[in-house]
Amino acid sequence: GVTNGLSTDPLTLPQWVLVQQQKEAPHARGNLSILLNAICVACKFVDSAVRKAGLSDLLGLAGTGNIQGEDQKKLDIVANEVFINVLRRSGQCSVLVSEEVDDEVIIEGGGEYSVVFDPLDGSSNIDCGVSIGTILGIYKKEKTEAPSVKNVLKSGRELVGAAYCLYGSSCSMVLSVGKQPAHFTLDPSLGEFVLTTPAMSVPEKGNIYSINEGNSVLWDTAVSRYVQECKNPSNGGSPKSLRYVGSMVADVHRTILYGGIFMYPADRKATKGKLRLLYEGNPMAYLVESAGGRAITHEGPVLDIVPASIHERCPIFLGSRIDIEELEAFLHAKA
Ligand code: AHG
Ligand code: MN
Ligand code: MN
Ligand code: MN
Repeated sequence: GVTNGLSTDPLTLPQWVLVQQQKEAPHARGNLSILLNAICVACKFVDSAVRKAGLSDLLGLAGTGNIQGEDQKKLDIVANEVFINVLRRSGQCSVLVSEEVDDEVIIEGGGEYSVVFDPLDGSSNIDCGVSIGTILGIYKKEKTEAPSVKNVLKSGRELVGAAYCLYGSSCSMVLSVGKQPAHFTLDPSLGEFVLTTPAMSVPEKGNIYSINEGNSVLWDTAVSRYVQECKNPSNGGSPKSLRYVGSMVADVHRTILYGGIFMYPADRKATKGKLRLLYEGNPMAYLVESAGGRAITHEGPVLDIVPASIHERCPIFLGSRIDIEELEAFLHAKA
């Protein structure tokens, strides 16, 4: 209940996970619950590091680079190490893939889950205090299956769960293990993620488009014409607003809550787009589709792509069902 505006019935993420397990998998051994709780611990650690970054010399560059060709930030490294250590210690994982690690991490004698993750998403926004996040996807292998990169080179349709954590004005965890995503807010005084929205739904149409307009000279005709339509609707309707944070987690979270469309298309320079399929495209596509939205490339659903390598990139357009349908009319129009 709520007394004087204070919820006196806090449902924490660990309790929520146990309730889901009892409801959905009463005979489960609770391994997924252990894994999700480990992910929670790592997210709380990163949230704490992010909030005091300026005070503990955690801003700026680490002086190293990653396989993506990016200069790693100190927080990229910190977040990566925390997730790898916490996931390894959980005893539930056999394969880990991180944006910040060249090759897959095989954990001998590990569990049946594989986790692919972007430990710190939106690194370019760290030093100026703009929202950043973490993105994760979870696969499950057969117990008899040997731990190998094959456990994660699967289409997003085979994900058993996905989540993101947004280190923003408040710290939000959005998580789905097959149902509509649940939204938890970190209560720093408890050190717990407390359920704030049991089932998230993307509005079926929105009034926001989200894309890096700085790349507009590189877009193909279909994307250019769709964006033009957003700005100056041919039916005389009111233009959409542009909102672009530059942290995928922030742009996607806003899109799920407010509706609209987020786009990172392939272009003349980035012929497969910029975002990475395993730990950005697929988890976000899984969450948006679980919330009734859609996520496509120029050709078809993001979740249908079968990856050939762990860091491959994919174009992505995601958000409200009707906005995606309007975009599709342009993508499928004869040039
Ligand atoms: P990361 O910081 O994990 O490398 O991801 C950055 C990504 C994503 O967060 C965001 O949507 C996109 O880069 C922004 O790219 P541009 O700066 O090219 O718009
Ligand atoms: Mn990066
Ligand atoms: Mn990212
Ligand atoms: Mn990252």
